[in-house]
Amino acid sequence: MNRLLITGGEVVTEAATYTADVLIQEGLVVAIGRDLSPADAVVVDATGKLVLPGCVDMHTHLEAPHNELDDPSEGAVTCDGFPDGSIAAAVGGTTTIVDFATQSPGTSFQATLEQWKQRLRDRPPAVDVGFHMIVTDMAYPGAEDDLARMCDEGVTSYKLFLAYKESPLWVDDSTLFRVAQVAAKSGALVMAHAENGGAIEVLQEQALQRGDTAPIWHSYTRPVRTESEAISRVATLCGIAEAPAYIMHVSCREAAEVVAYERDRGSRLWAETCPHYLAFTEDKLLGDWSEAAKYLVTPPIRENGHADALWAALRDGTLSVVSTDHCPWLTRWKDAATDFFTIPNGVPGIENRLEVMYELGVRQGRLDLTRLVDLLCAAPARLFGMFPKKGTIAIGSSGDIVIFDPRREKVITADEEMSKCDYTIYEGFRMEGSVETVVFGGEIIVRDGRYVAQFERGGFLPRARFSEPS
Ligand code: URP
Ligand code: ZN
Repeated sequence: MNRLLITGGEVVTEAATYTADVLIQEGLVVAIGRDLSPADAVVVDATGKLVLPGCVDMHTHLEAPHNELDDPSEGAVTCDGFPDGSIAAAVGGTTTIVDFATQSPGTSFQATLEQWKQRLRDRPPAVDVGFHMIVTDMAYPGAEDDLARMCDEGVTSYKLFLAYKESPLWVDDSTLFRVAQVAAKSGALVMAHAENGGAIEVLQEQALQRGDTAPIWHSYTRPVRTESEAISRVATLCGIAEAPAYIMHVSCREAAEVVAYERDRGSRLWAETCPHYLAFTEDKLLGDWSEAAKYLVTPPIRENGHADALWAALRDGTLSVVSTDHCPWLTRWKDAATDFFTIPNGVPGIENRLEVMYELGVRQGRLDLTRLVDLLCAAPARLFGMFPKKGTIAIGSSGDIVIFDPRREKVITADEEMSKCDYTIYEGFRMEGSVETVVFGGEIIVRDGRYVAQFERGGFLPRARFSEPS
């Protein structure tokens, strides 16, 4: 019998912090208590350490096509594949990822899902991977039934891009509304990249015509109200269709205010932000092009002051989740662009979320530990149909555990990261507290901060339909 006993640590869940031993047997947590002493268990001493649930990152872009979808050229797909990206996730304390299966227009959802599941069989991940379905085309015969059936396959969230008007990813309001109607019946959660693609397209064209091509124009052509307007539209249309909705990567005060307003009036709306909106300000996009391009992400990193509003929204429950939106492009791919519009957008971060959020949030006094665990583990697991198997430490939950040493110092540097990305936006970032050990399904896969598994143990993770978090 395969048994692992973690002794003497400070167990932290979304609800409580207490000292206890945790026993994992055949991949599941089977006992939590003091002075457990089962026979034949491998023992890991966690005295003085935090024992956290394996973190859940439900917004990553591994092997992800750029906005052109089927473009086969070098640099058209993010530089971390499922094995690399998931190993990087594991080292950073994440044991569950939900990535995207992207529908190319004209391809059925069933065929799309099969393609993405095949990728996981061909290149197995180190941790569990679920998929959201990115919907680009509802015009083929039977699309609505096909989309509804995704829930039977464990794909219980549908993502829509209201941004990127120039790309096949963009959808109009009719498509958004039809998808929301399907979700209301099938039991899925509608997820939106909420920015007004039409207005942004006009601002971009005007900037490029004037010769305003530098990276900072990525930000200037995406005013905060293009984000808040789109959030309001998603909440309204999903509300009419009676579908629950989730807003991805909230970047600014105005967007958080709309989420708060909608939630106060009873809308079934949830939202996330990402560490880069909390850690940086817009001035990263000024100056040296190559350096600025590294921070070019959509929505853009905002001016000073917005991060404070986002921290407040994380504390008061307006924002429910912190995800990475890990979307890594090599420096040379970013450098090859000649204007802000063609720089591949997205930043890496899959390896850094827990440590950066612990440093900025807990150690610097902005969040308490249980709230951190809620934001990174329990809430994403609940909203995306994985709780309590994932996202907490309870009898019967998966044996996915992070042993976090709050005294272990670390400085982030790209040279030591497992991600294939050749830079990190956190280069030189100093932290007190880092991931020591990661257990996935009862097996130690990270020891002393290093990936030690002999082979990748993860695979496709089907998820339950959306149910209202209590
Ligand atoms: O810039 C970003 N966020 N790239 C990834 C795709 C998306 O919009 O989420
Ligand atoms: Zn994204």
